[in-house]
Amino acid sequence: MDSIIVTGNGPLNGQIPIAGAKNACLTLMPATLLSEEPLTLTNAPRLSDIKTMTTLLQSLGAEVAQMQGGQVLALSSHDLNNHVADYDIVRKMRASILVLGPMLARDGHAVVSLPGGCAIGARPVDLHLKALEAMGAELELRDGYVHARAPGGLRGGVVEFPFVSVGATENALMAATLAKGTTVLKNAAREPEIVDLAQCLRKMGAQIEGEGTSTITIQGVDRLGGATHAVVPDRIELGTYMLAPAICGGEVECLGGRIELVAAFCERLDAAGISVEETATGLKVARRNGRVRAVDVVTEPFPGFPTDLQAQMMALLTTADGVSVLEERIFENRFMHAPELMRMGARIEVHGGTATVTGVEHLKGAPVMATDLRASVSLILAGLAAEGETIVNRVYHLDRGYERVEEKLGAVGAKIERISGQ
Ligand code: EPZ
Repeated sequence: MDSIIVTGNGPLNGQIPIAGAKNACLTLMPATLLSEEPLTLTNAPRLSDIKTMTTLLQSLGAEVAQMQGGQVLALSSHDLNNHVADYDIVRKMRASILVLGPMLARDGHAVVSLPGGCAIGARPVDLHLKALEAMGAELELRDGYVHARAPGGLRGGVVEFPFVSVGATENALMAATLAKGTTVLKNAAREPEIVDLAQCLRKMGAQIEGEGTSTITIQGVDRLGGATHAVVPDRIELGTYMLAPAICGGEVECLGGRIELVAAFCERLDAAGISVEETATGLKVARRNGRVRAVDVVTEPFPGFPTDLQAQMMALLTTADGVSVLEERIFENRFMHAPELMRMGARIEVHGGTATVTGVEHLKGAPVMATDLRASVSLILAGLAAEGETIVNRVYHLDRGYERVEEKLGAVGAKIERISGQ
């Protein structure tokens, strides 16, 4: 297992390119299952999760070709010859559940392993299943798999989500494009990745209205065609790298960043004393004079503060002037970065879904353990400003969501290197 060594090295200056969104690509790729025509995705990120989704789709009989070093994905599902998404692949990545809706909508049957939980929570898929049942799917849970059938095809229905679920909205949205009649998704997720998916499906011939709002209406069509679609920039990678100059000082421009992707996050940065300037090519970030100010954070579905930036924001606040309270409202166990940050000298008290961070002058480098994707990168960020050397172990978590992190940060002056493990 590889490790990454980070040594505090003063202010950062330069540009960091932002890649296409992992969480958009992971729902755009299964959309190929809805059509027999080719789907080409450009601006695709080069991540291990994308390779896992590629393996899953290929196991179903889809063709997935990576071009231009993986930045272009050419997908085709002309000949699906297997409708079983196997546990061995699904357990590696929960987003695998997103093949269920499209496969069921296209061929009327699908067998998908339940994904199981992960480090940040139990992460059930009950809302995905209820949504498909509202469209006439017959589901049976057996041996850890969902056995789904829709003999006469799916039919339009009204899906009322009791609370916002990004994945369940994506599964339902994709399935509804081929259902007979009209489907209405109420309390739908509003994330930019949902908007990106809807725009791609519309290019394929789907009839969709309301994406980006809480109510999405889909008029089913008989078949979908192919499309070419550019993956939306990754707002979580963007927010992550915006925090690098915030934590270290200096000025960094995140190329491809757009303010509307991270508005709630930028409002908190502004309150903390970090300036964000829109440029012709992205977002330029710098710490205003003096120490970062303590701010409170509450994670919410979009357009609220994203849960996927909570760990990274906590890294910033460990050395802020004052006491910050972070409330994690989306996942039940998403403070595992806290004990690792405390090894570096942070003062954090966790009670249930609330973490209270009392700012210290500076952190000290230490060996720390990555537990999940976003926790890993928060430890890298903390190490950038800490005194001395921080060794982050188990960086396979990191490679799931961040391409070439040591190159991107190294290019703006960070002292960071990857040590290959056995
Ligand atoms: C997506 O996960 C993202 N993953 C997550 O990013 C992100 O944290 C999350 O949305 C919230 O924004 C991908 O897009 C691949 P949810 P998802 O369904 O769809 C509960 C990252 O770091 N829930 O919106 O799984 C669930 O347990 C990852 O890139 C149910 O109870 O999230 C959670 O508490 C981590 N039943 C809450 O809802 C369900 O059927 C929100 O989950 C579905 C979800």
